[in-house]
Amino acid sequence: MAKNQKIILSGDRPTGRLHVGHYAGSLKRRVELQNSGEYDKIFIMIADAQALTDNADQPSKIRENIMEVALDYLSIGIDPAKSTMFVQSHISELTELSFYYMNLVTVSRLQRNPTVKAEIQMRNFETSIPVGFFTYPISQAADITAFHATTVPVGEDQAPMLEQTREIVHKFNSVYGETLTEPQILLPDNQACLRLPGTDGKAKMSKSLGNCIYLSDSEEDVRQKVMSMFTDPDHIRVQDPGKLEGNTVFTYLDAFSRKEHFAEYLPEYADLDELKAHYQRGGLGDVKVKKFLNSVMQEELSPIRSRRAEYEKNIEQVYEILRDGSSTAKETAAKTLEEVRHAMKIDYFQDPAFLEEQKRFQDSKEE
Ligand code: TRP
Repeated sequence: MAKNQKIILSGDRPTGRLHVGHYAGSLKRRVELQNSGEYDKIFIMIADAQALTDNADQPSKIRENIMEVALDYLSIGIDPAKSTMFVQSHISELTELSFYYMNLVTVSRLQRNPTVKAEIQMRNFETSIPVGFFTYPISQAADITAFHATTVPVGEDQAPMLEQTREIVHKFNSVYGETLTEPQILLPDNQACLRLPGTDGKAKMSKSLGNCIYLSDSEEDVRQKVMSMFTDPDHIRVQDPGKLEGNTVFTYLDAFSRKEHFAEYLPEYADLDELKAHYQRGGLGDVKVKKFLNSVMQEELSPIRSRRAEYEKNIEQVYEILRDGSSTAKETAAKTLEEVRHAMKIDYFQDPAFLEEQKRFQDSKEE
């Protein structure tokens, strides 16, 4: 086991292109952590096996989105020289780990996982939950521990998974001896990034609701989505006082705007507090705020867009990055699996002591 190393693991299900909710909630942080130079190893996983747990009948959808997500990662600045990008299903060791961890988790504990609960409701799975889906928190514990991850930068919805992973680590280590590393969750410290709403103001950004701004959206798409964003429905005339609460445009400004943006695009306000105060007082129209938000979003997204365009022209290179990353990840996971099998005393053919023990035991029977 790698002692005292700082190791990151995180990932996303490839059920569609990644959007600004993913970006604010976790992706941006991953790039910052990568570039901080403080981490010994960074693993970024495309969780296709997990995506199949509730999309078993849609293999083409998952297949199509592998490269889309890889392109999203590269375009935000995940650097293959610093981070290992890989595909989950390629690492069969994760499945084996999951199977052993299943012995350490009860059905009732899984039933209490609030994220799984909410997902079951959302997908109308109540009467027919696929077993694989039900147990995905266990497989997520395998993902994290296979790499001895110390730090898992994710969105708030993943907190129950981390809690469950930590429980599995404790249980495993107490039953089989110190083997696995206990991970810490790393949430965004900006409240607005913790839960970025959809452009329609609904709490969750989701493809089926059509309320996402994708990292790969064109400039014009972003502009249109921002200009039609949900604001304060009671703010009808410019002179009316406006509400900030539930006002998506301001939530996005909380998440993405910085002081420098004001100097550049809206110099009549020093910062977001001044803009908010004016809005609440009345006399500030939604269109003006939306135009400002559009400038902020374009500034954030345009380098991502152009990097994506470069990689799209070099898709073979992206393919190789994923393939090589998956081989590297597999080696790491295989090492952990060896440690796990040793701790669980099932390493019969790797451990020369096994045969010796057996010889002694059988001999002792004859006496
Ligand atoms: N559950 C995550 C999502 O829905 C994806 C994921 C799978 C993950 N395994 C992980 C995230 C391990 C962090 C660590 O996007």
